[in-house]
Amino acid sequence: MTTGKPRVLATRHFPPDVEARLAGSFDAILNPEDRLYDGASLAKATIDCAGIMCAAGDPLGADTIASLPQSVRMIATFSVGYEHVDVAAAAKRGIVVSNTPDVLTDATADIAMLCLLGAARRTHEGAQMLRTHHWVGWTPTQLMGVHVTGKRLGILGMGRIGQALADRARAFRMQIHYSNRSRLPAELEKGAVFHADPDAMLPYCDFLSINAPMTPSTHKWVNAERIGKLPKGAIVVNTARGGVVDDEALIAALKSGRLAAAGLDVFDGEPKIHPGYYDLANTFLLPHMGSATIETRNAMGFKALDNLEAFLLRNQTPPDLVKAS
Ligand code: DGY
Repeated sequence: MTTGKPRVLATRHFPPDVEARLAGSFDAILNPEDRLYDGASLAKATIDCAGIMCAAGDPLGADTIASLPQSVRMIATFSVGYEHVDVAAAAKRGIVVSNTPDVLTDATADIAMLCLLGAARRTHEGAQMLRTHHWVGWTPTQLMGVHVTGKRLGILGMGRIGQALADRARAFRMQIHYSNRSRLPAELEKGAVFHADPDAMLPYCDFLSINAPMTPSTHKWVNAERIGKLPKGAIVVNTARGGVVDDEALIAALKSGRLAAAGLDVFDGEPKIHPGYYDLANTFLLPHMGSATIETRNAMGFKALDNLEAFLLRNQTPPDLVKAS
């Protein structure tokens, strides 16, 4: 039965309030079982669809986009990152793409701070000791981590999330260094030290936090050579994209003690993460949950819908249009 509304396919099971609005505004094809689409099944499932509401990790590379039905005019991703969508291939097909910036800044910066603290304070080892009944009681030398207060934090990528992390770290009296495509104005920099060359920042990083998007130039940016430029015993935090880190190099440095610890919320090839991470006690690992609060996930969904409704219902430019670079 046709409703007269544009048809939109949801590639994932989204929060209930988001799906309710999607179903109210559009002829929605929902995915209550949250089954994963591959390129071929996505092309089949989007027959007669005008829009696709997708999420991080969905396979929207050039081949899938080329195989989508002609009816598809828009892809709205429920994420700020959009490396899973080939925006240039979409533009070639006349498909517009939108994302969900801003609304996940605080939640993701909270998780970055959690990863930083979790790695510094040996949280994984402590929690595991307790839950496996191996805690023998308090001892003066038990699980000594490293202090965060007063240490230097280098942030690669000082966009919204990097700045929000810096604000949190300032409350811990950390000294902020950052590297970014362009220097921030003084009111946003707030005394942080700018390094035009990201490699030149590395010797100043007791902690290094990755907050840069995944692009060809950041792919495996944290490699053996750059780890070698960090102070011995530094801690690496990644809440951006796993592909920015060369896993083999990071794991080797964590094993050798070159790095003290790592706090990671994202992984190359997730959910099939590098097996070397599982046995490393000096890692604080989370399953990509930077934006996982109900408030944030609703806000992401509503933002994706604002974009879909603007373009497909009102013929307006989506407010969060992603342009091919
Ligand atoms: C994003 O929005 O890019 C996140 O990684 C998903 O939470």
